[in-house]
This record gives sequence, structure tokens and C-alpha cells, in this order.
Amino acid sequence: MPALSPAARDRLKMPKSIAFIDDLLSRMTLAEKIGQLNLVTPGGETLTGTVVNTDVADKIKTGRIGAIFGVKSAEAVRVFQDLAAQSRLKIPLMFAEDVIHGQKTIFPLPLALAASWDMKLVEETARIAAVEASSIGIDQVYAPMVDVCREPRWGRIAESPGEDPVLASRYAEAMVRGFQGSDLSAPTSVMACLKHYVGYGGAVGGRDYDAVDMSPATLHDIYLPPFAAGVKAGAGSVMAAFNTLNGTPMHANATLIQRVLRQGLGFRGLVVADYTGVQELIAHAVAGDKAEAARLALKAGVDCDMVAEAYLDTLGASVAAGLIDEAEIDAACRRVLEAKADLGLFDDPYHRITWGRATQSVLTEANRAVARQAVAAASVLLKNEHDLLPLGKKGRIALIGALADDRVNMNGTWAVSGSPSTVVPILEGLREAAAGAAEILHAKGANIVDDRVLAARLNVHDWKDLSVVIDDRTAEEMLAEAVDLAGQSDVVVAVVGEAREYSGESSSRIDLLIPEPQKKLIRALKAVGKPLVVVVMTGRPLALTEEAELADALLVAWFGGTEIGHGLADVLFGAQSPTGRLPATFPYAVGQVPVTYAHLPTGRPFPGRFQKFTSGYVDMPDEVPHNDGLFPFGFGLTYAPVAYGPPRVDKVALAGDDDRLTVSVSVTNMGKRPTAEVVQLYVHDLKASVSRPVKQLKGFSKVALEPGESAEVSFTLLAGDLAFSVATSVDDLTRIREAGDYDIHVGRSSRDTQHVRISWN
Ligand code: NOJ
Repeated sequence: MPALSPAARDRLKMPKSIAFIDDLLSRMTLAEKIGQLNLVTPGGETLTGTVVNTDVADKIKTGRIGAIFGVKSAEAVRVFQDLAAQSRLKIPLMFAEDVIHGQKTIFPLPLALAASWDMKLVEETARIAAVEASSIGIDQVYAPMVDVCREPRWGRIAESPGEDPVLASRYAEAMVRGFQGSDLSAPTSVMACLKHYVGYGGAVGGRDYDAVDMSPATLHDIYLPPFAAGVKAGAGSVMAAFNTLNGTPMHANATLIQRVLRQGLGFRGLVVADYTGVQELIAHAVAGDKAEAARLALKAGVDCDMVAEAYLDTLGASVAAGLIDEAEIDAACRRVLEAKADLGLFDDPYHRITWGRATQSVLTEANRAVARQAVAAASVLLKNEHDLLPLGKKGRIALIGALADDRVNMNGTWAVSGSPSTVVPILEGLREAAAGAAEILHAKGANIVDDRVLAARLNVHDWKDLSVVIDDRTAEEMLAEAVDLAGQSDVVVAVVGEAREYSGESSSRIDLLIPEPQKKLIRALKAVGKPLVVVVMTGRPLALTEEAELADALLVAWFGGTEIGHGLADVLFGAQSPTGRLPATFPYAVGQVPVTYAHLPTGRPFPGRFQKFTSGYVDMPDEVPHNDGLFPFGFGLTYAPVAYGPPRVDKVALAGDDDRLTVSVSVTNMGKRPTAEVVQLYVHDLKASVSRPVKQLKGFSKVALEPGESAEVSFTLLAGDLAFSVATSVDDLTRIREAGDYDIHVGRSSRDTQHVRISWN
């Protein structure tokens, strides 16, 4: 029986292909059902072809593997799927992959895509990634990661949409739409997987995999909304997080998976474990052995066991011993089969690779064009003294830095199928753009890090194509060469920052500074006295306090992916305005984190100058707000100043849950270049039964503006936007909206707003 697409199913108001799946389930043995829950990564691909580990081959043929992730070619997908066709019931395998910010065409990092505040663009990148990934037979992607994160020491902030639940929610929806399209069974659609459920971004100390402790209200108002938004957008799967939440590991957290996610948010799809997450219940010390870990995870609602094979090895015996009910295995197996049905795999297990072979739609010019455009959209300009940027295409430009002529680092973390060989390095992009007009000279100037131990750690995934190369020359020699080049040039562009494995999974940092060798380089270049542009490559918010002093222009380019060279040349020479805004606060110093614009008021607020017995730091200058960053959330300059009119509301007194407020503002491009403005709407609840954040983002809109052009931007605020959670436990909570006065702020960043006061009773 053909599987119905989710859209068709919704129209018919029918659960997914019930009769088909009932029939299949009734014919499966217990072992075969458990086999469907087994999710493995076989590896085994060599340059000369696909080598299938015999154990894996045997397991597939005997129905003991339901899904595979990490397969890199259509050939390999076919080999594995052919093996599944030899199994008794011929249930197709489902293929998954970590397609985080592009498959072959690599886009800027997720944090950078969030910095674009352009959800059409975000959706387009996910659509392209879906087309490229599905063309080699990928059915499911382990993305989007929607973990809100206010802790830049955590390396995985690079994969996250940043610190704000509203921005992260819009990002989650856009990614889900892009990946899944309008019909999941279409060969170009892939199933999204919202991860990591939940709270992972709140790890104590920013240490990966570490404990998370948060109030139920914070969980519901800050960390859960992007999951709720992604579920509402139709995400087919969710991945459990590695962390404990208030003491309970998420892989054993029945309350959060069964009650909050499934019953509360109405999620009907598949929950997959994270890598060995089931087995790790033993290390979390809530399970004594693999069998207990498997039972806890299954009962919590984790349908598929990734890599650990704890389900495969132990669930059969647990059923026989009466420790678990076969019905619980049936329920999980049903969800795997439903996912496969939704993906059209029962109709044709090969439909994605068949289509992919025919179209060759990978790394096309059109895909690259979107990646190029994304660089400008995501780049955030933090300083631009005397309009140093954009640069004229004339004279001599010294382009300095190890990252300026680099392919390996440019894709950033989690670009598992992106090849450095397809990257346009920054030097190449700038030379191409300036050809015949300006001379671009290059020197490395400094190693990314001088520390060989650290370099080895950063190269841990890259032993073939070293991402951090320590030069044979001395630091002094490299520096002297760069300084000499700078002296011969009209302007200096220093490209500095992190190596790609400085951020990402298990890449937390105790420091948020640009590594010292590159800091020395910037100081030396500053001393030359030429105008200095500092371009920062990073996967996290950094403390750019010194660079903000030294640089005449400071631009955060994140890790821009395949088209970084062209995209950055567009920005530096002004073909495009950088229009990104910070999706997470850039702190003054590491000691300030975690830090967010959306903090609560304190009883003793920082008065603007250090004063004993007020909330502040003794060793931080007065000029910087002590409870907010050096560069705040939502901040970013452009090449064209944009003027804001006063915010206007259609009424100042509202009442009831059905009322709605329209807020409008007019914005005008006062400059000589086209730009795009991110108009941001924040709310401040002036008095409530509990302390409320000083500002909370409630809406945003990115509008393109030609020179001299004005636009009227309107937002609709619903009563629900003013609600917050009051909770005694994670599954016993109420959302309330309290009558009272609110300031409605509109502006260009969380720190730069104008407001109107309304009352909503
Ligand atoms: C572990 C990571 O936490 C997760 O995000 C990823 O999808 C899996 N490994 C699979 O690679």
C-alpha cells in the first residue's frame, strides 16, 4: 500500500498508513522489531569503493539493523539497501547524515546563518542541503540543532542559533521547511531531526556533555520554544541530548520525552538517541548495566538506539524476563516504520538515489551563489571608523593571516561531506575581485596557535589535511614578513581567529580570546600605522575587547563555507553590505559569561559606574555595561546608516486574550549604498508577579533598502506574546499573562531602541 504524504494524511485526517504498518508489524518477530530500533554507523568506505563490514552485512540481512548514518555515497547506499532487500521482510533501511550547514555546498555555520536574521535565506540553505543530501540517498538529516545557548565557552554554540528563543524558533521552522519541503515522501525531501532535546546548551561551565540545571520556567520559556516551533512546522524526528537535566539524563527522561514532547507538544514522530547516549546511562550512574540502560531509554521514549546496540543486545531478554512489555517495543518500531513510510521508502527504497543520479544537482553554480550571498548576509560589522570599509579597489592591500589563505578551516565544524578542495580561499576571492585594479599581497604573519599540543588536538579529525599548520619559521620571522608587507601597503586586512575545531562538539574553551600568536600579529600590524581591518573567523562569540580598540574596522565573518572567498570579497569591496546582526552577545571578557541582553533586573543594578554593593565587576571598566556584553545581541553596523522614525502603535490600551497590537516604524536608508536593516521588536513587562527580563525579543523583520528608500515595517503582537510560564515542575506548568503596562521597544539592536508604553488588561 502506498504511503501517504503528511500533507495528504492531514487532509484526510488519517493516521499514517495504519493498515499497512499494522499488517507489517503483525508479521514481524520480536527480534525483527528490535532490529528496526538499531541505528548504526558502519564506516568502511575506502577510496576504492564500499567495503561492508561482514558483521554489519550479516545484521542487515537478518533484520537486525533499521537505519544507518554516516554513509557518504549513492554507491554505498545502494550496497546497503540491496542487503536489506535480502532480509526476510525486505524492510528498507533509512539513511541519515549530519547535514548541519550544507552537504557539499557548505554554507556559513548555523550560528552565522542565524546572524543573517533572514529566514528565507535560512530555508533556502536547508532546501539546497536537502537536495544535495537526498541525491546520494540520504533520507534523514541530524539537523537543525536548535539548542538555545548563552554560554560561548561551549563549543557547540557554533551549531546553535544563538541565545534567543524567538530567533531560534524562527530558525527552527525555516530549517524544517527547507529540509522537508511540502511532501516528505518526495525524493528531494529529507526528514529533519530537531536536536538536542533538551537543555544541552545550558551545560555547566560550558563543558560539553556536562550537567544542566535549570528552573522549569526557564526550560519552558527559553530552551523549549524552538523545539515546539520545529514540531509545529512538522519535524519528523527529534534527537535526545547527552546531558542530564536537573539530575535526570535526557536518554532516560520519560517526563520530558513522553509527557512534555509527545503529550504536551503533540510530537508524533521518531525520537533517536544520540551517539552511544543509551549506553552512557551507565556512566551517568542511573543504570547498572546495558540491559537496564536499554530499558530506561525505551521506557523514556527513545525509539532508536544509536551505535550502542544496547537495544539489540538486551531488549529480547528483558521482554522474556517480563521486565519490559513487548507493546513498548511495538510502539517504538511502529514509529520507525511510520518514518520510513512517510519518506516513501516502502514505495521505492531507491527513489532518492535514482533521482540524484539523474540530476547531478550538487555544488551547482546556483547553490554556490546562495552560499556566496549568505556570507554577506551573515557577516556582522562591529566597527567601521571613518567608513574604512568598503575598501576601494586600488593600490596595495596587505592580506595577512594564516586563515587568509586556507581551505581546510573555512567550512568550520560539522561539515562532514564538505571538501576543502571546493572552497574558495579568501586570498583567491580577493585577488579575483581586485584583478587589474588593486594588488593583494599576502603573508601568514603568525600560526593560528604556536602550541604543538593544542595544534595536535585541533587537528584530531584532520590528520590528512592539517587544519592547523605550525610553520617551520620562527614566530619572529613570520611577524617580520607581515610587518614588512604592511609597510609597503596602503591598507592592511588581517584575517584572524579560531581554527575550525576550536568550536564544535567537545571543543569548549576556557578562554574567549583570539589565540595569542594572532593577537601579537594584530598589535604589530597596528604599530605599522596603516588603516587596519580585522576580519574574525569564529564559531562562537569571542571577547574582542582589544581588537575593537586596535582595529579601524572589525568584521565578524564566522566560518563562511565553500564561497567564503567570493562572499568576503563582496563585503570588503562593497559589492554587498554586511547585514548580519549578532545572534548571541559578544562579551567583554570570559569572566562575564553566561551573559544575555534578556537578563532579569536586580535589586541593585549597576549604576553606570562601579559602586560597592551594586551588581557589577570590580575589574571591568565603567564604560561597558556589566550585565550585558561589549557587543550586544542584535547589534551590527552596515555600510549605509538607517534612520528610524518613532515606533507607533494602533492603540495604547488593550484588553483580553483576543486583542492584538500593531506596532509600526518607518526606516530610511540615509546612505549611498543598498543595505538591509534588521528591525527588532522587544517587550518589557514593567511589573509582574515574578521578575521579568528587562527586554525580550518578540519579532524581527529584515528589509532591503535602496539608497534613500524608506520602508514601513509592521509587527503584530498577540496577547500570547506577553505570557510566561509559572511552573512547579517541568510537566506541571501554567502559562499566564498578567494585566499591566508594557514598554514596546523597536530598534536596531537590543541596546538601541525607542519605546512606547501600552497597557494590556
Ligand atoms: C553526536 C552529536 O551530538 C550529534 O549531534 C550527531 O548528530 C551525532 N553524534 C551523530 O553524528
